[in-house]
Amino acid sequence: MNSSEIRQKFLDFFASKNHHVVPSAPIVVKDDPTLMFTNAGMNQFKDYFLGNKQAPWPRVTDTQKCLRVSGKHNDLEEVGYDTYHHTMFEMLGNWSFGDYFKKDALPWAWELLTEVYSLPKERLYVSVFGGDEKDGLPEDSEAFKIWKKILGGEDRILFGSKKDNFWEMGDTGPCGPSSEIHIDLRRPEEVAQIPGKALVNNDHPQVVEIWNNVFIEFNRLADGSLVKLPAQHVDTGMGFERLCMAIQGKQSNYDTDVFQPLIQFVAEQADVIYGENEKTDIAIRVLSDHIRAIAFAIADGQLPSNNKAGYVIRRILRRAVRYAFTFLNFKKPFLYQMVPVLADQLANVFPELKAQQAFVQRVIEEEELAFLRTLENGLKRLDALNESFVANQNRIDGKTAFELYDTFGFPADLTALIAKEKGFTVDEAGFEAEMLAQKTRSRNAAQTEQGDWVLVSEDVPTEFIGYDAVSTEARLVKYRQVKAKNKTEYQLVLDRTPFYAESGGQVGDSGFLESDLSKVKVLDTKKENDLIIHITTDLPLNLEAPLLARIDEERRRLIQKNHSATHLLHAALREVLGSHVAQKGSLVNEKLLRFDFSHFTKVTDDQLRDIESIVNQHVRQSIALDEKRNVPIAEAKQLGATALFGEKYGEFVRVITFDKDYSVELCGGTHVPNTGEIGILKIISESSVAAGVRRIEAYTAGYAQDYINQQLAQLDAVKEALGVQTNLAAAIEKLTTENNTLRKQLEQFELKQLTVLKDFLLTKVQEINGVKLIAEKVEVSSADYLKKLAFDSRNALPENLCLILAAEIDHKPQLAVMLSDNLVSDRKMNAISLVKELAKEIKGGGGGQPFYATAGGKDIAGLSAIPVKAAELLKAQLQN
Ligand code: SER
Repeated sequence: MNSSEIRQKFLDFFASKNHHVVPSAPIVVKDDPTLMFTNAGMNQFKDYFLGNKQAPWPRVTDTQKCLRVSGKHNDLEEVGYDTYHHTMFEMLGNWSFGDYFKKDALPWAWELLTEVYSLPKERLYVSVFGGDEKDGLPEDSEAFKIWKKILGGEDRILFGSKKDNFWEMGDTGPCGPSSEIHIDLRRPEEVAQIPGKALVNNDHPQVVEIWNNVFIEFNRLADGSLVKLPAQHVDTGMGFERLCMAIQGKQSNYDTDVFQPLIQFVAEQADVIYGENEKTDIAIRVLSDHIRAIAFAIADGQLPSNNKAGYVIRRILRRAVRYAFTFLNFKKPFLYQMVPVLADQLANVFPELKAQQAFVQRVIEEEELAFLRTLENGLKRLDALNESFVANQNRIDGKTAFELYDTFGFPADLTALIAKEKGFTVDEAGFEAEMLAQKTRSRNAAQTEQGDWVLVSEDVPTEFIGYDAVSTEARLVKYRQVKAKNKTEYQLVLDRTPFYAESGGQVGDSGFLESDLSKVKVLDTKKENDLIIHITTDLPLNLEAPLLARIDEERRRLIQKNHSATHLLHAALREVLGSHVAQKGSLVNEKLLRFDFSHFTKVTDDQLRDIESIVNQHVRQSIALDEKRNVPIAEAKQLGATALFGEKYGEFVRVITFDKDYSVELCGGTHVPNTGEIGILKIISESSVAAGVRRIEAYTAGYAQDYINQQLAQLDAVKEALGVQTNLAAAIEKLTTENNTLRKQLEQFELKQLTVLKDFLLTKVQEINGVKLIAEKVEVSSADYLKKLAFDSRNALPENLCLILAAEIDHKPQLAVMLSDNLVSDRKMNAISLVKELAKEIKGGGGGQPFYATAGGKDIAGLSAIPVKAAELLKAQLQN
């Protein structure tokens, strides 16, 4: 059975048990502050478990793109070294939202594995939760009984600890006991020696967990306690790649047809054979694994960057480049070439990659180039440090290794590797200490303490009425306190609200919650999955009293002008630049709109003018908003609605249209009733944000008018300064040319002056004990000229010259001391000590080289004393 068939059979099996097949959610999580990436199939259903939202179907099934590279579930460092851990993997799952429970889930799991996939029963082991004292939970005897009946005995049932058999999504959130199914893939003679049961949950590469059936019954709160959920749910997850390994009779996930196309491609390009050398094998596995995480994260909208999710992707990519560079000898970007292989392979399951192949390749290639440059620079730095290592007993101290890592982005393991090759060691403990210190610093800076929800009235889902109303009577449902370093805020959930929570680039509303007793300001509104959270600095005085929830209407009006203008801009970009333009990010607030989109070259001034004018035509046409809610997604797509990659759309969507032949978008934001309200759009900048991604910023309405007026005012000021009214560019050019000519003339004049000055100096020689002293106060206009004068004089008088110059440059005193080489070498004179001594006169200090040194100071009045002081100093020195 090939992997496509295996995936399909899973979905078909659960569809036959009345499950609704849903698409995978994006791998990048947008509205859940507890998660950066989807790390389990159940993430997208979290709200159904918690009761924040009603599930549209009681049973669903899917294959979900998951990434376990941060937070509670993190496998990154294992990847490549073993045969069954991955960054990105597919999780096949079936779910019951308050519908069936253990009694159905477990027999179905068994039926699918043993009858549909024909896995040998005698190689399967199951585990059930063995209870936990701390949480006060008993062992799962119900699951035990069900398994005993299915298996016809207890032999292959194990009781597991909380670590293995109690599944939690993160530090908080839905959780419950689980029952795992493990398979023994070893050869019969190995099985005969140690029974599989003894190897379950022992990190054995061939006795592995393939399926986890979780019985979600609890919510873990921030204080660590468990509360029972209103209903019981099933959440199962089967590792697709491991399942393929088991069904296809392989010993490694990488030997299945999921990975082989990538593995063979890398091996061929690197000119090595997979399976012949441990080191290159690991590297090939790292690349074949990592490219999947990188490519799909980018396709879902997460560009590599320097913070949060973007940084995680950057780190995975860099890990891959390091292995490619070090073990496979790829010194030029290579990973991006793997994208087409992957995109073709998964085109039917996850078409988002194929659809954006060129863009994803471009982003990866640029990242690779940048990191390869970092590697090269790091190598040079390491070479340059050679001398100090030797001085330091062939040891790179922790601070230097950390600086290479932290400031220059040079990987620590590579530092260690190179050091080893050169016969140096690295102070690992010192490095770790620096690392720890930095982590503590950033943890202290970022620490927030989030309390648990305090329920005030019945816990109902919030009704959002912000598309139609700006104020409403509401009740406080629950609140929690969040303590950050310098402030405490409250997060409030209401039963109904007009407040739009930040999402889709549109900022959250601000406003007030008023009652007879108090008026609380809402600073911002955010989303956590489907919860709408009002952020305030205070709580209402009477928590139970009815509130008037009222948004800042004026601000909202400005925001929605920018949001609607963003839609018009998106359509115009596609019209002028082409249909490859896809939204890659946006920000819409009361001041401006910012729109990031995929496009490979700079947008020219002419194109920008066209884009702006198309948008403004649609503004002037005063097109009425056509807003459709609850449109089935298939219908919306038929309307030609632009859907965004990486966005999670439900079965029903909201469609925003401004002229059905111009702009049709799936969007949850708020909009102007008529494009005329936008007034005008003015693009203020076009720039590059990342490889293949451009950014346009624009103003609308009053801000656009102010901007245009400011520009015109500047123009008026220029006209006035120039004294011309038309043809400003020609007038400025004329001025610039004149200015350049004058500057050149001045330079020539100054150079001539310098020669005169030098000749004058040469007439001022005083002989002191065989030294020709010239000490004068001179007039020059720059430090460069002072230096030139000193060097020219030395050329004219190469032997025995001690030249001491004092000058006022840019209203500051300056000194220069120049000595002939013979004075330095034979008579041990030193310009540095001379200049330092003389600098006391001008209240300053200086330095330089033994033959030429300079000083600056604060006291201009001290300059006149320099010639006399210099003569005295020299006499005193030469007498000794
Ligand atoms: N949530 C469980 C897991 O990720 C089962 O889907 O293992």
